Amino acid sequence: MMKKGSILIKNAAEVVTCSGFHAKQGKEMAELHIVPNGAVVIEEGIIKAVGPTEEVLKQYKEDQYEVIDATDKAVLPGFVDSHTHLVFGGYRAEEFSWRLRGDNYMSIMERGGGILSSVRATKEATKKELLSSAMKRLDSMLSFGVTTVEGKSGYGLDHDTEIKQLEVMQEANKLHPLDVVSTFMGAHAVPKEYKGREDILIDFFLKEVMPEVIERKLAVFCDVFCERNVFSIEESRRLLSKAKEMGFKIKLHADEIVPLGGAELAAELKAVSADHLLQASDTGIKAMAEAGVIATLLPGTAFSLKEDYARARYMIDNNCAVALATDFNPGSCFTESIPLIFALATLYMGITTEEAVTALTINGAAAIDQADSIGSIDIGKKGDVIILEFPSYKYIPYHIGVNTVEKVVKNGILVYN
Ligand code: NIG
Ligand code: FE
Repeated sequence: MMKKGSILIKNAAEVVTCSGFHAKQGKEMAELHIVPNGAVVIEEGIIKAVGPTEEVLKQYKEDQYEVIDATDKAVLPGFVDSHTHLVFGGYRAEEFSWRLRGDNYMSIMERGGGILSSVRATKEATKKELLSSAMKRLDSMLSFGVTTVEGKSGYGLDHDTEIKQLEVMQEANKLHPLDVVSTFMGAHAVPKEYKGREDILIDFFLKEVMPEVIERKLAVFCDVFCERNVFSIEESRRLLSKAKEMGFKIKLHADEIVPLGGAELAAELKAVSADHLLQASDTGIKAMAEAGVIATLLPGTAFSLKEDYARARYMIDNNCAVALATDFNPGSCFTESIPLIFALATLYMGITTEEAVTALTINGAAAIDQADSIGSIDIGKKGDVIILEFPSYKYIPYHIGVNTVEKVVKNGILVYN
């Protein structure tokens, strides 16, 4: 009998396995471990076999599976978008037009706009509204081949709205085929009434919100916007050290606008990832490589804010593990487009196509601490794979800004076709 979540993909021009169970650092990022004329077998949601079609078909009977013939197509692991802010109310199209006229992101925020305007709209939105918009966004992400996404709170900054955002993500994770991994990011902006009293706000999160988040398993990670005029290095250190003691894994928005030493702090605290890093120092980058902190780069944000890109080439040459993600959010980067991220990373950041594929698969998985179960086509991992309409992964950045994903299989089930 055919079991649910059991698929056999055969005759693929290439199966790009990205094989591995850990983050790939430096040179390792260029190795994709490709099987030509390959096949993949998924049983009850889990990868059972991968290898040349001829050999796989000797062992596995086609009548036991839903069979996909992938002749002339490339098969890859599902993409892992390891940094997004996908639950929010309202939009900021007006703010985007101000920025086009020369206004700047941080000064809009300092005037009470930016993140704080999304905070107002998110407070007003009902859970139902937030869930419905989140589900549509997840559909769009899935169409680009994303099978796991990280999402952050941080458009509440108070108890009820932070919890509401996390509950919406938990619900979306249950209802949508995509896996949603949640991050608590109460320390995303400073409301007016807390300006100059950031420590009190941090105490509030530590005492009144985070114990409940852990207790109810509403988030795995804790993140902070460590930036000038937002949360300082000392405030971020205090929040994240306590968060770690409470059982959160940690991440930072680090060195995005000014070089504050966020990369160094990430290494000191052994964070799972430090993200953005446009202004990260040489010392910070080397410390991250040494400490095994993933450098999650978000080229869509640099592009949208017209900032210089993070120094990806330098990071990889200095043995960092680089991940790429969209940073999908209503302000600094309103895009869930994986093809855009590939285009920017390869054409502007000195990342090769092979490194970009690694950065969006196994290293994306490592950036949410799941390299043992997703991010590559290896036996025992979740059956999350994508099938391109072209015979090679090399078409992904080459077909500039256009989606090349034809089919998405999540846990062995064909969910996008
Ligand atoms: O990653 N930098 C801070 N947070 C988000 C932006 C959020 C927003 O503008 O709404 C980021 O860029
Ligand atoms: Fe972000």
